[in-house]
Amino acid sequence: MSQRVLTTESGAPVADNQNSASAGVGGPLLIQDQQLIEKLARFNRERIPERVVHARGSGAYGRFEVTDDVTAYTSAHFLGERGRRTEVFVRFSTVADSLGGADAVRDPRGFAVKFYTEEGNYDLVGNNTPVFFIKDPIKFPDFIHSQKRDPFTGRQEPDNVWDFWAHSPEATHQVTWLMGDRGIPASYRHMNGYGSHTYQWTNAKGEAFFVKYHFKTDQGIRCLTSEQAAEIAGKDPASHQTDLLQAIERGVHPSWTLYVQIMPAAEAADYRFNPFDLTKVWPHSDYPLKRVGRLVLDRNPDNVFAEVEQAAFSPNNFVPGIGPSPDKMLQGRLFAYADAHRYRLGVNHTLLPVNAPRAVPGGARNYGRDGFMALNAQGRHAKNYEPNSYDGPVETGRPLSAPLPVSGWTGTHPAAQHTKDDDFVQAGALYRLMGEDERARLVANIAGSLAQVSRNDVIEKNLAHFHAADPEYGRRVEEAVRALRDE
Ligand code: NDP
Ligand code: HEM
Repeated sequence: MSQRVLTTESGAPVADNQNSASAGVGGPLLIQDQQLIEKLARFNRERIPERVVHARGSGAYGRFEVTDDVTAYTSAHFLGERGRRTEVFVRFSTVADSLGGADAVRDPRGFAVKFYTEEGNYDLVGNNTPVFFIKDPIKFPDFIHSQKRDPFTGRQEPDNVWDFWAHSPEATHQVTWLMGDRGIPASYRHMNGYGSHTYQWTNAKGEAFFVKYHFKTDQGIRCLTSEQAAEIAGKDPASHQTDLLQAIERGVHPSWTLYVQIMPAAEAADYRFNPFDLTKVWPHSDYPLKRVGRLVLDRNPDNVFAEVEQAAFSPNNFVPGIGPSPDKMLQGRLFAYADAHRYRLGVNHTLLPVNAPRAVPGGARNYGRDGFMALNAQGRHAKNYEPNSYDGPVETGRPLSAPLPVSGWTGTHPAAQHTKDDDFVQAGALYRLMGEDERARLVANIAGSLAQVSRNDVIEKNLAHFHAADPEYGRRVEEAVRALRDE
């Protein structure tokens, strides 16, 4: 059959793709019209569940190249020697809105990197902010409900957004970030990426270190004001997608320099902040940035659905030499993502090319079998149990990362607090880092949103958080809110 012949799903030629088959010229349609039935039925099944958060995103392929020796800290092969290159796929995203939302909005941005290493896929699923709103994963579904659309009004509601923050003083640092200039990046190319959590690296001698990842944009930080963003979101809702796609098409390949902060494991217990608290950074004066390598994006995906929508990143995809820390938020995420992928994409999602590991020919090698869309022969004749006497794959006996010491009683413990470790000290530090112009915009952004809240008690609780962060910060926000409320 010629290449130009249109076929049904089963490959038979289609006679007419413009007129449905009917009983007589003006009569009802015939169920025997396979082309009509198949087209309509297939169309109804085009959508899969969107990501429950980070639904709207853009992706690109590229490479990561090691520029500096970090073998004293990790045995990860892909970080093993200067000049070593590893293919990557990166997906950037906004968080709160659904698939049809606009890009130029005040929202954190996702920064998810999949390294196709020779030891398996390593996923670093971060954001463009070094901290987060909460420090215990049990609060995550409530937090997200408060930021997404209200079940009755169907809109994002300032009442809900600020009510959650009123009850979550630990959010003050991230709220300050979000309402500041970096709360609306000009594009995905013009923002940093952070692993945010503390992770564990283990070197060849088995020594453990805690690390934080920082991808600094080589394009420079660029941000939009609320007014600029509103205009751009109206003109081109897909503004970040347009920017990334067109830059790569033009051969202007965006890049980021990766740095890490490294803490020897023995220092964690006595550090002045809880090093596993996701609402805190490690000040650079305590743990300076150490350069590791360069991430470059140079290829657009061929198909947005196949590669970007179906991409699956999971914080529990580690490789030898890298592992989790006791950060409670990270621990919750180690469960949440693969579970979401089984629901959103199915149990065989690692057979999809964008997710398939490149470490061993033919993808993963294990005894998992069957399930929906088992696309390949899955081990062909090989035994589907282990141990076996037929030379099937076996475990290495080598842990991926060093074990962590634990002590204490089981229970629902609040996150451990250190002496100077309150919820406000770093929010204040961030405020004081900003120049006067940015402080003025920060205050105006917060007041513009907080003044819309209908309950005074919610407003007062939030004002108390800004006062606790920094007296000047609190006073200015309070004055601006009162001025707007009195108008
Ligand atoms: P440092 O001066 O050592 O580090 C400040 C960091 O803040 C730099 O990495 C800089 O990133 C970034 N930064 C500069 N201006 C802004 C801004 N207007 N909004 C957001 N980030 C900005 O100070 P500390 O390490 O003591 O941190 C002070 C505050 O800086 C923290 O409370 C935190 O909110 C923020 N911060 C800290 C980071 C860390 O890992 N320590 C990382 C990012 C922010 P750049 O070089 O890209 O401009
Ligand atoms: C996406 C859960 C916190 C970054 C998702 C998804 C879930 C989820 C279920 C959708 C996954 C999918 O369908 O593919 C959680 C939970 C959290 C949490 C339970 C807290 C306990 C965070 C934090 C960060 C983050 C702290 C960043 C540091 C991302 C990113 C994506 C995402 C970047 C999109 C990944 C992609 O591009 O496919 N999250 N999340 N999340 N999350 Fe989280």
